[in-house]
Amino acid sequence: MTAARIIRAAAGDAPIACAIVLGTGLGPLAEEVEEPVALSYADLPGFPPVGVSGHAGRLVIGTLEGRRVAVLQGRAHTYESGDPRVMKPVIDTLAALGVPRLLLTNAAGSLKPDMPPGSIMAIEDHIALFGPNPLIGLKGDDRFVPMNGAYDPVLRRVIAGGAARRRVALFEGVYAWVTGPSFETPAEIRALRTLGADAVGMSTVPEVILARHAGLAVAGLSMITNLAAGLAPHAPSHAETKAVAAAGASAMEAVIRGFLTECIDD
Ligand code: HPA
Repeated sequence: MTAARIIRAAAGDAPIACAIVLGTGLGPLAEEVEEPVALSYADLPGFPPVGVSGHAGRLVIGTLEGRRVAVLQGRAHTYESGDPRVMKPVIDTLAALGVPRLLLTNAAGSLKPDMPPGSIMAIEDHIALFGPNPLIGLKGDDRFVPMNGAYDPVLRRVIAGGAARRRVALFEGVYAWVTGPSFETPAEIRALRTLGADAVGMSTVPEVILARHAGLAVAGLSMITNLAAGLAPHAPSHAETKAVAAAGASAMEAVIRGFLTECIDD
């Protein structure tokens, strides 16, 4: 049975308004889904094993802010296997379920001293010049996906409106994708800043490209967990990323809830 059939059999056929991928430290939001139906990635064919501390591997379907949502608690990263397509079965399953929009969250380093740890940044665009593209090897003309407006302008307005209503300060900026898992050098961070990036991280972008290929509308939110290499007196670390992301989870949750409240139903 395909993952989509297993999910329908467990959670029913009612349309899902939004899928949300929870990044590092943001997992607890999945516990707040009402009338939850939870499935382990291990029981969904094609779904990746999740091998990073701070990430569970669970899909939770239910209601948040009155909207039917599919919350993906944990993701697989390109740096775990070298394969940027590792989230393709997940994205394709969402498309098969008819999910129209995907909200991706992550933890990221800031390239701007005036966007300090604890800030939330709505992703307006990305730079992914250095990593492998997840569509490499696919056939057909639809692999040439335009990436203009990849972070849906309407959804970005909805996010900004929801954050303002809930009085959470929201930055907007460009996310630079690096594969990791090593952090960047200070010289790389200076180079990324010169290229126009505001934040840097090791996730999300392959999912955005795969989701645009699958026809989903996409939005992205970064939880800023640290100043990037060379901008802080200390080096970045995964321990800091997890701790600051967890500490900022309630602000991120408010932005996500604001987004769902304001989101127009199809
Ligand atoms: N660099 C890359 N990825 C990250 C960072 C960083 O500084 N912080 C959180 N994820």
